[in-house]
Amino acid sequence: MTIRAFDPSRDYPAVVAIYNANFPGFQESESEFRYGDDYREEKHHFARVVAEDANGVLVGFGQSGHDTHSFHPTQFEIDIFVAPEQQGKGYGKALFERVVADLAPLQPTALRTHTVEGTERALRFLADRGFREEMSYAESWLDVDAFDPSRFADAEERVLSQRIRLTTLAELGDTDPDVRQKFYEFTQIIQADIPSPEPFTPISYDVWAKRFEHSGYLPEANFLALDGDTLVGLSTLWGREADDHLQTGATGIARSHRRRGIALALKLRALAFAKERGAPIIRTDNEVNNEGMLSINRALGFVRQPGWVGFVASPPSPAQRGLGGRREAVY
Ligand SMILES: CC(C)(COP(=O)(O)OP(=O)(O)OC[C@H]1O[C@@H](n2cnc3c(N)ncnc32)[C@H](O)[C@@H]1OP(=O)(O)O)[C@@H](O)C(=O)NCCC(=O)NCCS
Repeated sequence: MTIRAFDPSRDYPAVVAIYNANFPGFQESESEFRYGDDYREEKHHFARVVAEDANGVLVGFGQSGHDTHSFHPTQFEIDIFVAPEQQGKGYGKALFERVVADLAPLQPTALRTHTVEGTERALRFLADRGFREEMSYAESWLDVDAFDPSRFADAEERVLSQRIRLTTLAELGDTDPDVRQKFYEFTQIIQADIPSPEPFTPISYDVWAKRFEHSGYLPEANFLALDGDTLVGLSTLWGREADDHLQTGATGIARSHRRRGIALALKLRALAFAKERGAPIIRTDNEVNNEGMLSINRALGFVRQPGWVGFVASPPSPAQRGLGGRREAVY
């Protein structure tokens, strides 16, 4: 076995294939994968190594990086992925040891990772290395065809009667620098209220604006609520390349405007868009205790799927040391 640095000029196809083989419900395209890799600032550490078998075939990879939405200088996400047919041969352990050893100069105080519910081998691997469960995410899918909007016939009127306007980024002018700046500022306010294990840290405009180049960016599916000229709500959908599902990004309402039905109205617009587009499924993932968002999703008919379980550990001593992987989301 050889462990070497990831080579972006040739390793992406193998790395993406290994990731997808591990998580059949969470397929990613190469460009989505690259986007996740690039969505970070100078100060955000990111390193990836790959493992090759005796024939030089890439059989696994490991990576470490700061959480770009909750930056803490000495806390890191680490992820190890081994091709399913190569598991149980020591690659994961070796990758884990290497990733942890490479991080040592940065003096880590906490390591986080994620895996999908029910992946027994990964769960055992993490428990053996001192990881304990932390924050988990419910994955939920809505069957778009089966959704009947007539159950919510009054929802939009309830919001409009409060003189709240519902629109999209496309309608506001998504290439207008002022619109982008306003949208950026609002996303940072919302992001700060989305549950995460560590406090939210804002991302720079330049990194955030990479979204406009994302293959799944849909300006007409960035649904917004305005009170006068002030943004008070958003709910976004992203196209996916690996299938024809739509992925929910952030949904958030200004604190001053909650419990007035605005989130529900925005999500209903998102559902109408999905029907129109012929997308079979809308996906979303939410922190398991985010009762506000989950109750809206339940009411709309989203159904729980295996989700991501988050883990945290103190950095292991050299005597201890191999999994994981929820990649950085786009929102
Ligand atoms: C979750 C959130 C988007 C809800 O927005 P909202 O506009 O207040 O929600 P709505 O008014 O449309 O709620 C519709 C219904 O959902 C349920 N609901 C909404 N928030 C709830 C809460 N905090 N607790 C329990 N039920 C809730 C209620 O049934 C509500 O109807 P009611 O107010 O008539 O009782 C908002 O709380 C928020 O911005 N949170 C922070 C960001 C976040 O965590 N987003 C989700 C992850 S992306």
